Amino acid sequence: MKRVFSGIQPTGNIHLGNYLGALRQFVDLQKDNECIYCIVDMHAITVPKDPEVLKKSIMDVAALYLALGIDPEKSIVFIQSDVPGHAELSWMLTCSSYTGELSRMTQFKQKSKMQESAPTGLFMYPVLMAADILLYDTEVVPVGDDQKQHIELTRDLAKRVNGKYGEDTFVIPEGRYMKSGARIMSLDDPSSKMSKSAENEYSRIQLLDSPSKIKKSIMRATTDSEGVIRYDQEKQPGIANLLNIYSACTNKPVDEIVKDYDGKGYGALKKDLVDVLVENLTPVQERFAEIRNSDELPKILAAGAEKANAIAEKTIKRVKDNFGLGNRF
Ligand code: TYM
Repeated sequence: MKRVFSGIQPTGNIHLGNYLGALRQFVDLQKDNECIYCIVDMHAITVPKDPEVLKKSIMDVAALYLALGIDPEKSIVFIQSDVPGHAELSWMLTCSSYTGELSRMTQFKQKSKMQESAPTGLFMYPVLMAADILLYDTEVVPVGDDQKQHIELTRDLAKRVNGKYGEDTFVIPEGRYMKSGARIMSLDDPSSKMSKSAENEYSRIQLLDSPSKIKKSIMRATTDSEGVIRYDQEKQPGIANLLNIYSACTNKPVDEIVKDYDGKGYGALKKDLVDVLVENLTPVQERFAEIRNSDELPKILAAGAEKANAIAEKTIKRVKDNFGLGNRF
């Protein structure tokens, strides 16, 4: 039984990459672990958002968590900004972080590219993420591959603080990554990862997409001129990505899928993948519609915040004491 923590930003619609890289693990892990799943809304404001759109996205992600099978009886589900400890711990960690290591974060480099001066929130993003994780004495963090660098930074910060303020300050967490699905690539450009913010909406499959949007996105997906279905990430990255998605959604090994399609064309693979996706996503969308409009959702989130706060307050007290910020008299 381990303490598990992870989060997703409420920025746009959750896509297949988020599901296959991270959310699928959230659901599996809750069977034998103590899981805490957060909607990281404070991370979402590192790039300013329309408040009404943000509110809606927060509730959409919460409803999707439950629709995918996160069970609030087993796991804590809550919204980050409902627990003040995240911001408080983030500052304490900021004071042990260095501008050099934060400037080396790939995500920061990509997002601040082309800007003479980047928003400070974007720069501090990984420190807030470290606070999210360390606040709950987390042992395991299920995430996609793209978060590896942030997890390593979290471990470095925790070890550094423990060295300065006492080994009991933080538990050192570990990342958990899927063997297949840890990095789902964009459908129109298989050299970059599937992302919520890419301009072309057909570059991703969103969990709430209609069957016709799924069909269009898959049928348009970039392939190659080889014309043979093989798993070759170098030469046929588009087909490799489709095979990865197929395999992750059906739990069938890639080798077997390649055998099944021996002598068949890309069109056949794409057509069947559309069916697989529609079959997988339709029940999720039906549950989502029920949960999103129910009165239960706000109650579940309020109860989750209360439980999360109780754990967070204990950590904050311990960390403050170690820093010399508490227990003065
Ligand atoms: P976010 O919201 O960008 O993504 C949520 C999760 O989805 C994974 N992911 C992918 N996995 C496979 N293929 C892809 N193309 C793909 N795109 C995204 C991400 O790795 C992530 O696990 N910084 C985090 C949010 C966060 C967090 C945390 C996570 C804030 N605090 C504490 C864990 C623990 C992020 O941007 O996720």
